[in-house]
Amino acid sequence: MCGIVGYVGGQSALDVVLAGLKRLEYRGYDSAGVAVLADGALVASKKAGKLINLEKELVERPLPAGGTGLGHTRWATHGGPTDANAHPHLDGAGRVAVVHNGIIENFAALRAELVARGRTFASETDSEVVAHLLAESFAGCGDLAEAMRRVCRRLEGAFTLVAVHADVPDVVVGARRNSPLVVGVGEGEFFLASDVSAFIAHTRSAIELGQDQVVELRRDGVTVTDFGGAPADVRAYHVDWDASAAEKGGYDHFMLKEIAEQPKAIADTLRGRIGAGGVLTLDEVRIPPDVLREIDKVVVVACGTAFHAGMIAKYAFEQWTRLPCETELASEFRYRNPIVDARTLVIAISQSGETMDTLMALRHARERGAKVLAVCNTNGSTIPRESDAVLYTHAGPEVAVASTKAFLTQVVACCLVALYVGQVRGVAAGRGAEVREAVRELAGMPGAVEDVLRTMEPVRELARSLARKDTVLFLGRHVGYPVALEGALKLKELAYMHAEGFAAGELKHGPIALVEEGTPVVVVVPSGGGQSVVHDKVVSNIQEVRARGAWTVVIAEEGDEVVVPYADHLIRVPRTSTLLQPLVATVPLQVFACELATARGNEVDQPRNLAKSVTVE
Ligand code: F6R
Repeated sequence: MCGIVGYVGGQSALDVVLAGLKRLEYRGYDSAGVAVLADGALVASKKAGKLINLEKELVERPLPAGGTGLGHTRWATHGGPTDANAHPHLDGAGRVAVVHNGIIENFAALRAELVARGRTFASETDSEVVAHLLAESFAGCGDLAEAMRRVCRRLEGAFTLVAVHADVPDVVVGARRNSPLVVGVGEGEFFLASDVSAFIAHTRSAIELGQDQVVELRRDGVTVTDFGGAPADVRAYHVDWDASAAEKGGYDHFMLKEIAEQPKAIADTLRGRIGAGGVLTLDEVRIPPDVLREIDKVVVVACGTAFHAGMIAKYAFEQWTRLPCETELASEFRYRNPIVDARTLVIAISQSGETMDTLMALRHARERGAKVLAVCNTNGSTIPRESDAVLYTHAGPEVAVASTKAFLTQVVACCLVALYVGQVRGVAAGRGAEVREAVRELAGMPGAVEDVLRTMEPVRELARSLARKDTVLFLGRHVGYPVALEGALKLKELAYMHAEGFAAGELKHGPIALVEEGTPVVVVVPSGGGQSVVHDKVVSNIQEVRARGAWTVVIAEEGDEVVVPYADHLIRVPRTSTLLQPLVATVPLQVFACELATARGNEVDQPRNLAKSVTVE
């Protein structure tokens, strides 16, 4: 949700910033802008629409070269996606430029105050107030970092800010509250960015900024303080992936690359966590065993695709820990008075680690004394920082807006946590064979997903053949239900089609009225050797929709012959236990949505209206 880059050093700031913005465009693509300090003057350029529009503008009207600059790619909140609302925002005199990610909640009062002092505004954004406030503060103290601290003390809401001032040409300052900002440390050059991918081509040394901190970058070093000016403790770290991981690597879309990376991503999630005899070693779970033994309830909070992973986690927790488990939409949990206390284990699932709804939900839970374990993909992001413990999924950077490898690795990580908690609580002891089998099966999942990926051509053909349909329905039961929801979400966000996921048993209570002659209905048939009651119920549900004219696409495990007469199109997935089926059954739905989006001429990696990291509530 908005991408920010800042640079000071010996290279052309414009080149560094534009290359960084390209990497961050997944965070928002409503407009883009840059500002550079050159020969004591501040020059800026900004354009509505994708970064390419700004790049064209810069070819037509080039900016002079300089070694200090900043840039922004926007996901609009306050004010539409116009040139005027694009960042950076300048003060009236054009001496200060500022870029912002987040929402300044008290901007109306601040704007009224500035207008009363005679300041005029060029945009409808909440962000522009910062440029004016910074200009005034700097005029008072002559120190940009101090001016930033003074301004931050007046702001309410969530903000990452990066600013430059024409009077201090070798300085870039940044500030963060609730939105991400990382420092890249080079030799005689420093970077600021919403995430490390923006500077990974230059350095893999990074510094994680904490909550309510201000950073000053100069060519000779970095200073970090809190908003009061006191020196702050920061954590330096080495980024364990390189620039190639953030490239498309020959694929047409990042999404295709990330779908293909899933076997490796799962293997990386499992690596080093399964010991001899299937004993799990989750060293990062710093919640002491005696605290875990006292837990009497698990609550999973997440949004979107991560929420669907959380729905699957509920089955895993109930099965392997025998603890009651609820999965809650983070945005709903936050505004309830939930029954959560020191004996509750809250699992916060987030790829980005920055989703504001999930962050607020975890704070809500911690205020009530709950222990929070984050399942997260992004090292050093806010959600793990604010949690009691974290299990990183190690899926590598996920650039496509539609989540794929993050989802599968979240499911795997949640299974690991559930099995681990079961192990610690001794639940596993009585069911040793089942648990050993589950661990063994998890270890085999990279291979199983690899097998699914090898058989996707018919799914792509199917998607192309359905490109003109208006509606696709998805049905599943048990863990197949979140898979159905995930299939529908992928189709909505990528193909812009009416797609709905239903619990198959719920269909007869209303939604079946949507089925008409030729409606495509995708059904996830439970695995487990076709023995389960739930399998037979789903087979009945397929017959119910066929009787009303549905055209069925059936996802069923190898060897399930019962479903064959009821499938207009059959997608085979490897045989798994029921609980782990989502890891193989979701993959065809990802491929299906990606291909349908392509067939309909949509942008796969940057679907309309969306942003990868949703840092507003
Ligand atoms: C859908 C998608 C979103 C995210 C959701 C949570 O493809 O990507 O629904 O899953 O915004 O994001 P994270 O996991 O970063 O908290």
